[in-house]
Amino acid sequence: METMTWEQLEEQIRQCSRCPLCRGINHKVPGQGDRSAPLMLIGEGPGYQEDQQGLAFVGPAGQLLTRMLLSMGMPRDRVYICNTVKCRPPENRTPEPGETEACLPFLRAQTALVRPRVILLLGATAARVTLDPNIRISRDRGVWHQRSGVWMLATYHPSALLRDPSKKREAWTDMDAVRDKLMELGLYPDLYGEKAGGEP
Ligand code: URA
Repeated sequence: METMTWEQLEEQIRQCSRCPLCRGINHKVPGQGDRSAPLMLIGEGPGYQEDQQGLAFVGPAGQLLTRMLLSMGMPRDRVYICNTVKCRPPENRTPEPGETEACLPFLRAQTALVRPRVILLLGATAARVTLDPNIRISRDRGVWHQRSGVWMLATYHPSALLRDPSKKREAWTDMDAVRDKLMELGLYPDLYGEKAGGEP
């Protein structure tokens, strides 16, 4: 699947019925953004707004994510954003392992096409699918992992920050770590402009 084009990948996602999540959805949500971004963000799965619009992170969690990115000087359209599953789980439940597994080839193909230098994993599902099934975000967030030359860091999902704002401080530390890593790699601020600063 790694060698396919974006068009082929999008078509495969459109046609996919590998797991039951595709039943009853309004739109598939493949992901969007800069397809050659050095920074890729992976969330869990589409929610209500995302399912309505066919776009990742456009609901309340997405609005917070936009502000988090801007606070470190990154316009949203300069990163690539997608999810572990491309179909909304019923009642926004956590995707089941069989569902994330069925969707994993799409995530792998997206990563192969974007070829990011840094991946920010938003929440436990993304971290478990990508790094280690035993990860606990409260314990394991903020730690860099390098896989096939790509730097990966897990942080809280923006929905968790909306539910518990006391986690924001740690999330901001993680965003700063991402900015520092991009800087270390010579990709910041040249690519993203000067830091805008401030917390949302
Ligand atoms: N939560 C996610 O994990 N992804 C989205 O696209 C929206 C909310």
